Amino acid sequence: MASTIHPLVQDLLTRDAASVAGVEKLRFFPLVAESGNGTVLVEPGGRELLDFSSSWTAGGLGYGNPTVTKAIVEAATNPPGFGGISAIHPDLVKFAELLLSIVPGEENRRVYIGNTGSDANDVVLRSCRFNTGKSRVITFENSYHGGVGFAMGVSGVHVGTNTTAADGATFIPYPDPFRPHLGSIADSVADSLQRIQSEFEAGDVACLIMEPIQSDGGLIVPPPGFMKGVAALCKTYDVLFICDEVKVGLGRTGLLHAFLLDDVVPDIVTFGKMLGGGLPLSAAVGPARILDGPTGSALMTAAGNPICVAAGIAALEVIISQDLASLAKNSGQKLRELFSDLVTEFDIADVVGDVRGHGLAIGIDLVTDRETNNRNHDLARKTVYRAWELGVVVYYVGANVLEVTPPLTVRVNEIEQGIRIIAQAIADAKSGLVTDEMIAAFTGW
Ligand SMILES: Cc1ncc(COP(=O)(O)O)c(C=O)c1O
Repeated sequence: MASTIHPLVQDLLTRDAASVAGVEKLRFFPLVAESGNGTVLVEPGGRELLDFSSSWTAGGLGYGNPTVTKAIVEAATNPPGFGGISAIHPDLVKFAELLLSIVPGEENRRVYIGNTGSDANDVVLRSCRFNTGKSRVITFENSYHGGVGFAMGVSGVHVGTNTTAADGATFIPYPDPFRPHLGSIADSVADSLQRIQSEFEAGDVACLIMEPIQSDGGLIVPPPGFMKGVAALCKTYDVLFICDEVKVGLGRTGLLHAFLLDDVVPDIVTFGKMLGGGLPLSAAVGPARILDGPTGSALMTAAGNPICVAAGIAALEVIISQDLASLAKNSGQKLRELFSDLVTEFDIADVVGDVRGHGLAIGIDLVTDRETNNRNHDLARKTVYRAWELGVVVYYVGANVLEVTPPLTVRVNEIEQGIRIIAQAIADAKSGLVTDEMIAAFTGW
């Protein structure tokens, strides 16, 4: 049964359209939530939805995590100022020390503390250029590193649609085992590595930035060995290797850091989203020679805000002490096993081209047919809309891939219920239950 829109939901939809700027909207269905708990979001009027996006992974600890909430309330009660750029406070230093202790890397490192994944990437890209004296950056086609500034200009997802490439950015194909850009995935890997090497040979490349799983580009998992190959080239040519863990870091893939999937140690690692346990908080960990100067070249008043940093310390303590990485690994395995049975039960094998990922970073690739495996953008749009009607929040990436990223704390019964609804939504969308008119107002990506 389709949900009817509650009058309280409709009221907010109307007022939102007349007040909140479109530049910050990426809407897939008329989602309105007034509270949340764990995996659950609650609409005005009381309807509950299982959030299998966890707010694009920012809610990786679930909504209202008690440890994080307690830390936020305590920090907000007698705050030692509201920033970190001109005053030191104990949690600022503790947070930086904690990150240094859990991220492998060279001896003499520093931590940049910011507000968003975008600013963390922006700052490290600028610092790499400035401190190496080299002007160019290697990045990947269809990558996502930020929604503003330099970070946006190296994001393949944005470039060519709503922004132009950053000066000095070169885009390399990201090897996709399901849709290799050359005949085979082995050829594609060899081609991408060869192109990177050719760029490095010019001697003017400061850094390379890479997502360990290309998330917004379509939840693409590179073949084993690719990241290692990239890291080795960076080392040989003295190019800084930046690993962007903003989306899938901190346990989501089943390991504390996604770069461990390929056993590499990046020069610089950036974090965001789940890092603040839901509050805006980001970080970059990297060599002191890159992040220490020039002093004051990356100033944001709210960076190091004690409430956000306290939330960050609590979030890291929860992630580590509760071993959320192992939880994500087991939950992801369970979810995929269940989905594989549901594909048969709901008779959707003809439109499910691929299911991939690690831990609770899972992509369901919807296709027009199994011969061509062409992207089925229309089905993805209609599926996420139908899932919302049935009570699950899930978005798509890369035009046609359902991005299944529930909180790492998701319960077994929620996995069972949520993935069944997703399978049902695919079947319903396939059978034509969602019309073009119903989704017309929701353009998504
Ligand atoms: C891999 C990656 N890096 C960086 C960002 C930017 O983070 P934020 O939206 O917090 O600025 C995102 C956001 O989706 C992301 O997925």
